[in-house]
Amino acid sequence: MKINIIQNLDNFSGTILIPIFETDEKNEVNITFDGLEIPVKLFSGIKDTHYLAEKNNNIYLFIGLGKTIDYKALKTIFRRISAKQKEHFNLNLALVLPDQLTDNQVEAMISGLLLGTYDLGHFKAEKKVHPILAPNFCLKLVTDKDYLSIGNKAIKIAKAQLSVFNLVDLPPNTATPKHLSQWAKYTGEKYGFEVEVLGHEASKIAGLDAFLAVGKGSENEPQFIIMNYTPKFEEKSIKHVGLVGKGITFDTGGLNIKTAGMVHMKCDMAGGGAVLGTMQLIADLQLPIKVTAIVPCAENSVDAKSLLPSDVINSYSGHSIEIIDTDAEGRLVLADGLSYLVKNFNPNYIIDIATLTGSSVGTFGYECGALFTNNEEMSKKLQKSGDAVGERLWPLPLWDVYKSDIESDIADVKNYSGKPVAGAISAAKFLEFFTNEHAAWAHLDIAGVAFGDDEFAKSKHATAYGVHLLTKFIENI
Ligand code: BES
Ligand code: ZN
Ligand code: ZN
Repeated sequence: MKINIIQNLDNFSGTILIPIFETDEKNEVNITFDGLEIPVKLFSGIKDTHYLAEKNNNIYLFIGLGKTIDYKALKTIFRRISAKQKEHFNLNLALVLPDQLTDNQVEAMISGLLLGTYDLGHFKAEKKVHPILAPNFCLKLVTDKDYLSIGNKAIKIAKAQLSVFNLVDLPPNTATPKHLSQWAKYTGEKYGFEVEVLGHEASKIAGLDAFLAVGKGSENEPQFIIMNYTPKFEEKSIKHVGLVGKGITFDTGGLNIKTAGMVHMKCDMAGGGAVLGTMQLIADLQLPIKVTAIVPCAENSVDAKSLLPSDVINSYSGHSIEIIDTDAEGRLVLADGLSYLVKNFNPNYIIDIATLTGSSVGTFGYECGALFTNNEEMSKKLQKSGDAVGERLWPLPLWDVYKSDIESDIADVKNYSGKPVAGAISAAKFLEFFTNEHAAWAHLDIAGVAFGDDEFAKSKHATAYGVHLLTKFIENI
């Protein structure tokens, strides 16, 4: 999708999108635009309403924004318009940008339009190409202001989110660990970051035993993806951010096999997906910051070779782990991801992101990710970054009183307390054990927000939660 700017509609013919804020004169004054008058009884700018009109072969689509609107709601409205009114879209599409819009609002609208092109029918015989995706499509922004760089940034954000929609929604027999590592290599080359992948043999030599233990029962070889982005102009004082994303391409639970909800477990690489999408986006935006990202990818399957409950395994850190429950596998791959990051790169900030526990879903439902950190500055900045883009986070404690939950009699640590309480917190305490007391580490449990129900499909599907949040955080450092 390309954009350019036009000052007025004088020489334009096609479809025109006109965002309208609701005013206090509601129910009194008709909206007028380009010689058209819309009866106020039919449309007054109320949020989530729209009105179609036609004049001189042009289609006018008025879009209600209410009196005030937040980033996420605005983006969703434009995604909806793009997804559900596409029969009115053609190569000539104009978006009118009234003066009172903020830069963020313009960004949300343009990103939303591009996200509206997403089609879940990856394996359908017949696929229709959304008009916006036609090779010579160009969105005209009708404005006096120079919105080009904001518009292009909005496109980059949506492109990274679309990448994550694809990765997470693809079925586990397509989106295997190899698929993710190949995606990382291809994307690294295209956008400009380095990618190294450790397969089974290399991971064994490196000592990534906890990571390898999870994938033991699978036909699909695990892949430990390591990515490095370095800005073109590297300054001495430049900060270094480390990311780790859970890349379980399917979670059967292992021998502690899942009963409820297994069908949704292709989403268990959504933390890894968020990290992959973030790498695409920061490289595309050429952010002036160094980022190292690790996505340990494996499938948690059932087999004679699978981990047994009560097995004791080793880990990259050298600490032994008692396996109480094979369904608590995410923390095992993250443990090695975190230890590897700290030992080999020791970045200034570390954030891991994972669909880690059902417990976090029980606490926050589908609207908010769980945030764990002892670093006040990171806590505030992460929450602020999330609020700005409609990806909410709320803190839960990391108090040491919860440490006893993961103390093992036989090994250095155990992967589950065995008790159905404080699950998200004890999982976070387990991860903390592998951070070597890093002073700026945060853990995001996104089990409730990575995969959701909404108006855009009949079944649960990817949200790309985390891509924009992590990028915003990195941008604001
Ligand atoms: N992948 C799941 C967590 C999950 C739940 C993700 C719901 C997305 C939606 C994770 O590996 C898991 O199975 N966690 C267990 C841990 C328990 C066995 C200690 C859980 O939370 O029940
Ligand atoms: Zn699990
Ligand atoms: Zn899992």
